[in-house]
Amino acid sequence: MIDIKKTLKKKELSKGDLIFLLSQYNKDERQLIFEKAREVKKKYVGNKIYLRGLIEYSNNCKKNCLYCGIRYNNKKVKRYVVKDEDVLQCADYAFKNNYASIVLQSGEISNKYFVQKISNLLKEIHQLTDNSLKVTLSCGEQTKETYKRWFEAGAHRYLLRIESSNKNIYNNIHPNDIKHNYEKRIQALQNLKEIGYQVGSGIMIGLPEQSIEDLADDLLFLKNINVDMVGMGPYVEHTDTPLYQKKELLLSKNGRYNLSMIMFALLRIIMKDINIASTTALDAISDFGRIEALNIAANVLMPNLTPTNYIANYNLYNNKPNSLLAYKLTNHIEQYKNRHGCSIAYGEHGNSKHFNLRTQKK
Ligand code: 5AD
Ligand code: SF4
Repeated sequence: MIDIKKTLKKKELSKGDLIFLLSQYNKDERQLIFEKAREVKKKYVGNKIYLRGLIEYSNNCKKNCLYCGIRYNNKKVKRYVVKDEDVLQCADYAFKNNYASIVLQSGEISNKYFVQKISNLLKEIHQLTDNSLKVTLSCGEQTKETYKRWFEAGAHRYLLRIESSNKNIYNNIHPNDIKHNYEKRIQALQNLKEIGYQVGSGIMIGLPEQSIEDLADDLLFLKNINVDMVGMGPYVEHTDTPLYQKKELLLSKNGRYNLSMIMFALLRIIMKDINIASTTALDAISDFGRIEALNIAANVLMPNLTPTNYIANYNLYNNKPNSLLAYKLTNHIEQYKNRHGCSIAYGEHGNSKHFNLRTQKK
């Protein structure tokens, strides 16, 4: 106990400290870490929860990540692209319900038609909503030119997870070809930053053959590349993927959940002023996963606005919650908000404080 308190008081946590904290399994010790994360969160980013309405625009993807349910080779998936008018309707819903931000997410497609389509949608969304919505894109690795075009068309933020910062693990969970290249992914993150996006990245927690040391490295990686936002969550197996064969190596759902909560807390402690999303995968392994992450460290929630006729086909992993409609989720959160004084920040963009400071300095 004394050691934990002492460690948590340090200005900088070393890899050794992170490993030590990640190895705490007892309730009381874990609570100390969570308390510290809450304290940091309150001091640096406040207790508000910022909303991003999530639109899962298309499940087409040219990639074959070994863990992902919508990988190219999964022929069981019914592929879709949300119609323009439906995307606009979602944006309008977010606008009218004071979400202030939306996220357009899709599998990785890079043809000219797709690139143009996203640019057009960005422009139309801004026209429809009086330029008042902040838009995040999460459409995978693209050329720097494409990122630039989308930025100019009105995308403000971009999410591109590194998935695992350990190159060996990265190679174990992706096919080893030019489409799935670790260095290219890091370069893409660099390009996004150079263009001027608020940049988000993240990892999966509890992957097969991932150790506590690897997770400590992941935290330090996110700090070193100086991201503005993080979206991370537990790895959740999907039956129709190659990585499912390694399911025997996985921690239990509860184990992955507990590890995820400590990861969220430590991330907040080492990256005090970033935006941290409470991700959907948390709800796939625990009933109150997202709420708990918000109570400890996260400050961003992404209610799913994807029209219900498409939503079931964006099945990244088994048990992905798709029934919790956006208004139900926000109502649900409202009921919990008093627990740690959190409240939903309707009408606020909730830019990453880290981004604001990083760009002011220049
Ligand atoms: N478990 C958890 N997260 C997953 N993702 C894809 N497949 C899985 C899975 N099986 C996440 C990846 C990707 C994001 C779109 O979804 O981190 O970046
Ligand atoms: Fe495609 Fe992303 Fe799934 Fe990989 S994780 S297969 S890039 S949707």
